[in-house]
Amino acid sequence: MDTARKAAAHAYAPYSQFRVGAALLFDDGTVVTGCNVENVSYGLTSCAERNALFRAISESGADRKIVAIAVTNLNGEPSSPCGACRQVLSEFTAPDAVISFPGENGLETLPFNDLLPFQFHLHSH
Ligand code: THU
Repeated sequence: MDTARKAAAHAYAPYSQFRVGAALLFDDGTVVTGCNVENVSYGLTSCAERNALFRAISESGADRKIVAIAVTNLNGEPSSPCGACRQVLSEFTAPDAVISFPGENGLETLPFNDLLPFQFHLHSH
């Protein structure tokens, strides 16, 4: 959470003022962070969670699995990861991965698979 918070400080969020940070812990012990990057078109905005994942793969390849995810924001508000980020993260989460984020009643920590049941996967992959 501390690492995610530090990443949120880099957020580019002039339109929403909502600054999000994500930290992904991989099974090799490394942590990769991301922040949200907004765009004047609004729709081209990219979330902290996906930015962290794409950065991790860009820097180190796709052979690692995520074992823990922390998401937070600097606005002191609940921010559960959006549906698009859940699906994208699910492609790289270990079966027992956990996720923490600020929920409606404080910090939530739960198995990632509880956050996104019935994930779309191809059996050939
Ligand atoms: N945002 C994230 O970065 N992650 C989420 O899980 C939800 C939303 C960003 C997108 C946008 O820049 C801002 O938060 C407000 O929606």
